[in-house]
Amino acid sequence: NDPRQFVTGLPKAELHLHIEGSLEPELMFALAERNKVAIPFGSVEEIRAAYSFTRLQDFLDIYYAGADVLRTEEDFRDLATAYFDRAAADGVRHAEIFFDPQTHTDRGIPFQVVADGLLAGMAKAEARHGLTSQLILCFLRHLDEDAAFDTLKAADPWLDRIAGVGLDSSEVGHPPSKFARIFETARGMGLKAVAHAGEEGPPEYVWEALDLLHIDRLDHGNRALEDDRLTTRLVETGMTLTVCPLSNLKLCVIDDIAAHPVDRMLKAGLQATINSDDPAYFGGYVVDNYLAVAQARGLTREDMVTLARNSFTGSFLSEAEIARHL
Ligand code: HPA
Ligand code: ZN
Repeated sequence: NDPRQFVTGLPKAELHLHIEGSLEPELMFALAERNKVAIPFGSVEEIRAAYSFTRLQDFLDIYYAGADVLRTEEDFRDLATAYFDRAAADGVRHAEIFFDPQTHTDRGIPFQVVADGLLAGMAKAEARHGLTSQLILCFLRHLDEDAAFDTLKAADPWLDRIAGVGLDSSEVGHPPSKFARIFETARGMGLKAVAHAGEEGPPEYVWEALDLLHIDRLDHGNRALEDDRLTTRLVETGMTLTVCPLSNLKLCVIDDIAAHPVDRMLKAGLQATINSDDPAYFGGYVVDNYLAVAQARGLTREDMVTLARNSFTGSFLSEAEIARHL
């Protein structure tokens, strides 16, 4: 009857997870030593103490700085392995994980190092835990579209092992319209499309993600609730939203976890899912995210079953694979 045991026992997919955001302070410290990289922190406690944010950009600055300790294929494999071990313990059976190649290639780390390291971690997770996974290549929206095209080109030899493209980083001032052509190209190559929209940005950015990027899934989408016509569109098209409660709290998208809209999303008929976003920075993995909103918003067990079910129906798995999980 323990809620944690109940949520852990539900088979779940995680659909909104930045692998660089799963870098725990302990591993950051260990990799800094292994690679002889100087970091501006003297201890794991000092790193944790720096994780206090008032908006998305505060977090992004520290998240990109932290990623500097990732240098070798082995580092990326260890990063992925640490996430998958933790996710498996939470009852995650399938994960579609984001990675930000530009964060690494812009520091001189080849795309190959990042991709092969992550793929090695993914293979290990499947062998160890039966946890399947897919990669989503995210373009950094604070950079320009030419840089996104360069990234897609660098990814070319790996495209058979990449499920889709996404859009992340600083949202306000960088609308989806800026990336219409790269998304059209990527979709033309058979890649799925997702985008962060409506986290800090206005409902208009969600409209653009739908109409200009033709997304298959909406990351966050909180602010879509401000627009009834948009909400209706998302309901009628069965769009999956990858909602991240502890992230919303830590980045001040909401003032209090008690104000989280996930139950309003479910009542409106939206296909909401629960995800951890950047668990090392936001204070919890997927089960912690379920429990935070369950307690704050009085979710029923039926609601939690619905959320877990939505995570599979909203995944890029085939109908047959989804059926195996449900
Ligand atoms: N929003 C935008 N970009 C990001 C996030 C996020 O929550 N996490 C990592 N990159
Ligand atoms: Zn995110």
